Amino acid sequence: MRSVRQAISNDTSLINSPAWQALRKHHAETESLHMLDLFEADTNRFVNFSVEHEELLLDYSKNRITSETLPLLFELAKQAGVESWRQQLFSGEKINTTEGRSVLHTALRNCSNTSIHSDGEDVMPLVNAELDKMRGFTEKVRSGEWRGFTSKPITDIVNIGIGGSDLGPNMVCTALQPYAKDNLRVHFVSNVDALQIKQTLEKVNAETTLFIIASKTFTTQETLTNANSARAWFLKQPNTEEGDIAKHFVAASTNSVAVSAFGIDTTNMFQFWDWVGGRYSLWSAVGLSIMLYIGMDQYQKLLEGAHSMDQHFAEQPLESNMPVILALLGVWYANFYGAESQAILPYDHNLGLLPAYLEQADMESNGKSVRRDGKAVGYSTGPIVWGAEGINGQHAFYQLLHQGTRVIPADFIASVQSQADDQYHADILASNFLAQTEALMRGRSLDETRHELETAGVSGAEAEMRLPHMYFEGNQPTNSIVMDQLTPYNLGSIVAMYEHKIFVQGVIWNINSYDQWGVELGKKLAKNVLEELESGEDKFEHDSSTAGLLNWFRKKR
Ligand code: F6P
Repeated sequence: MRSVRQAISNDTSLINSPAWQALRKHHAETESLHMLDLFEADTNRFVNFSVEHEELLLDYSKNRITSETLPLLFELAKQAGVESWRQQLFSGEKINTTEGRSVLHTALRNCSNTSIHSDGEDVMPLVNAELDKMRGFTEKVRSGEWRGFTSKPITDIVNIGIGGSDLGPNMVCTALQPYAKDNLRVHFVSNVDALQIKQTLEKVNAETTLFIIASKTFTTQETLTNANSARAWFLKQPNTEEGDIAKHFVAASTNSVAVSAFGIDTTNMFQFWDWVGGRYSLWSAVGLSIMLYIGMDQYQKLLEGAHSMDQHFAEQPLESNMPVILALLGVWYANFYGAESQAILPYDHNLGLLPAYLEQADMESNGKSVRRDGKAVGYSTGPIVWGAEGINGQHAFYQLLHQGTRVIPADFIASVQSQADDQYHADILASNFLAQTEALMRGRSLDETRHELETAGVSGAEAEMRLPHMYFEGNQPTNSIVMDQLTPYNLGSIVAMYEHKIFVQGVIWNINSYDQWGVELGKKLAKNVLEELESGEDKFEHDSSTAGLLNWFRKKR
């Protein structure tokens, strides 16, 4: 028997630490409490367990916590050195140790423009110069000064990228669609399935389309395949020639050599740096599609909103710090209640892609089983993040939230004012948002259920038979995150809030949240399999399942 785990020694110092042990004891003492009783005991619970930052409200009162829980969790954060790690993050220390890199997405939105150093160099002049270049380009495209090969202005932006080079800009453009310029559309192509690029190309006109090839490394197979297909399609259009590529293809990348080798003039390349993680890159040149779509001023507000959350995170004491509180509640459920997942449930239609965005942000960051020092963690780390628009989920998967067997912490996210400016719809949406978190917290007791049945005229054996099925335990934890309206500024704040939440959890679990070695093995094997699929020769050894499937594809392709 081969066990990879055997090679890595385990470490139990965190779970044996005083703060962890105190939390374990507290959990044993409070696990059986019901939130409804806690609300009855403290009529000020909403005020006591909520925090505001500008137009954002975080109500965390519907959690399985008493007045003692958070102080114990803050002790854990202090023991883990969250304050000192936070300082290291903002000051450009190389906290991504396995790649020897600083982690400076916060510099990209450092609207205060204070110096931030990486490798002894102030990065702010680089950041500002690139932002100016993006602004200049955006101005030309949006004003119609930038022309395609037949001298027509640009009407369609196609962003070709995957992972962080797709999810962030796609999520933000979708969220901020009401801020978009009328005569400019944006499309996103990520899947290497030819269908997506083909369907997109069918919708656009080569004369008026601008392709942004977004790839931090500029080596990603899916992105380069789609980019090559787009270029081939472009060059097949009547009257196009190689020289026209410069008017229709630009790149967002850290790799100027590869961009140039692809055939994009590096004057049309928007640069970022290795200290920007792919999943944290929407604030960099990867955000070019966003800037083009909503304009420079609104993009600036997105940066400002994020910067304001950075300042909140950097300066607020742990006790009133939104990302810290969210992170600690997540640790409470993951490590003491054994919760395996974290649901993200937006009640704003335009936030529909937020769950997918946060899946990458969280799971690629904290899906780790080895500590910073290479020892295996002896506890759960990042949760399975999942979700969908809350209102649709109510009619689909909420059954499991209400009556399933698992503890599933859920973030409910809503805007008070709808972007649609329709109070009738907005009130129905808000009432569902409010009712669901209340129902998940309260549940419905046997007496209440019996009474409900009686009112409906059901009694006797029939009522007793139905009773257990209609009973709700409740006590399901939720956070309510409410913003005045889904604006660029508020969206920036919310995204930054989640980024810092993920960071704090990584610090507590003592893992490196900024590498992603786990995605490499599949990429390497896919290259081998592709060779075999195309050559028909068996060059590598496979298990019988993979070999059987490979042959199945070969026979049927
Ligand atoms: O394979 C995972 C990953 O490296 C992500 O971390 C990244 O966001 C994505 O692929 C795309 O990478 P790139 O921007 O280099 O094409």
